[in-house]
Amino acid sequence: MDIGELIEKNLEQVFPDNSGDTVIDAARYSLLSGGKRLRPRMMFMTSKLLTGEDTIPDDVMYYAVTLEMIHTYSLIHDDLPCMDNDDLRRGLPTCHIKFGEGFATLAGDTLLNSAMERLLKMSYKKPSYSYASLRMAELAGISGMIGGQSMDLMSEDMKIPLERLYELQAKKTGALIECAIVTPYYLFKADSFDPDNEDDICDALKRLAAHVGLAFQIRDDILDVISDPSVLGKSTGKDERDNKSTFVTLLGFEGASGRLDEEIGKALDVLSYLRDKGYDVNEYVDFVEYLKNRGT
Ligand code: IPE
Ligand code: IPE
Ligand code: MG
Ligand code: MG
Ligand code: MG
Repeated sequence: MDIGELIEKNLEQVFPDNSGDTVIDAARYSLLSGGKRLRPRMMFMTSKLLTGEDTIPDDVMYYAVTLEMIHTYSLIHDDLPCMDNDDLRRGLPTCHIKFGEGFATLAGDTLLNSAMERLLKMSYKKPSYSYASLRMAELAGISGMIGGQSMDLMSEDMKIPLERLYELQAKKTGALIECAIVTPYYLFKADSFDPDNEDDICDALKRLAAHVGLAFQIRDDILDVISDPSVLGKSTGKDERDNKSTFVTLLGFEGASGRLDEEIGKALDVLSYLRDKGYDVNEYVDFVEYLKNRGT
């Protein structure tokens, strides 16, 4: 089974499909509606980089599914009429279009709450797992993704300074990407590493995440301008419609493309550093290069 199929199989097991509860139907609808699954994939890349093994440990898969649940909840709520008011997501009607706003809100709540239950369950296993769980909760919360979404709403209908856009992006998109890239480090920390070397690698992974997160969001902003809903699977032109401050609206198309190239270059520099430390970074190098021109 390839890695994509394995992720889908694990996501299918999150909620029983015969519950007869509309909230569960709505949560399953969004969770199983495709998506690139980039956050689980990043988690697996770090896992492989750190262990040197191709197999994904069950606990890494468990955290990867949990993160994808949090990401999916963030998309359901992001699409609601009270936020971005979008009717297309992953090539399908958004959750509230299909199930109504009440069930979509509760489906998001359910995904988040179930994710927190899963994090708490894992916390009992090892001290390093408690820390990994705490970091995932924090990165999803007010100091991370929710905080960024709040800044995004506060910035509608105004031009914000570029510095503030960096902060907004680091929270809104960067936080869950940091979580994807760094979590395996926390999971393995207790038993697999030379303590003298830990901080170095953790710091490098965080730097990698910061550059990947920025590159990812700059490309998302560019795609909103240049792409088409039939290709992208979500509506386009909506950042301009909502007067959002984005990398394209603040820097212009050329400026944003230039910043994207810089972030890709910086991410590749971090990967060279990790390669010099003896890690196999080839998969990550391909991934970072894909980010530059991704079409969806
Ligand atoms: C979209 O994320 C939301 C942002 C953070 C910009 P993705 O582009 O990873 O969405 P899916 O999961 O593939 O649908
Ligand atoms: C949302 O950013 C990021 C989230 C935390 C959900 P966007 O609003 O730009 O994401 P899209 O373009 O709707 O996927
Ligand atoms: Mg939004
Ligand atoms: Mg949106
Ligand atoms: Mg967007």
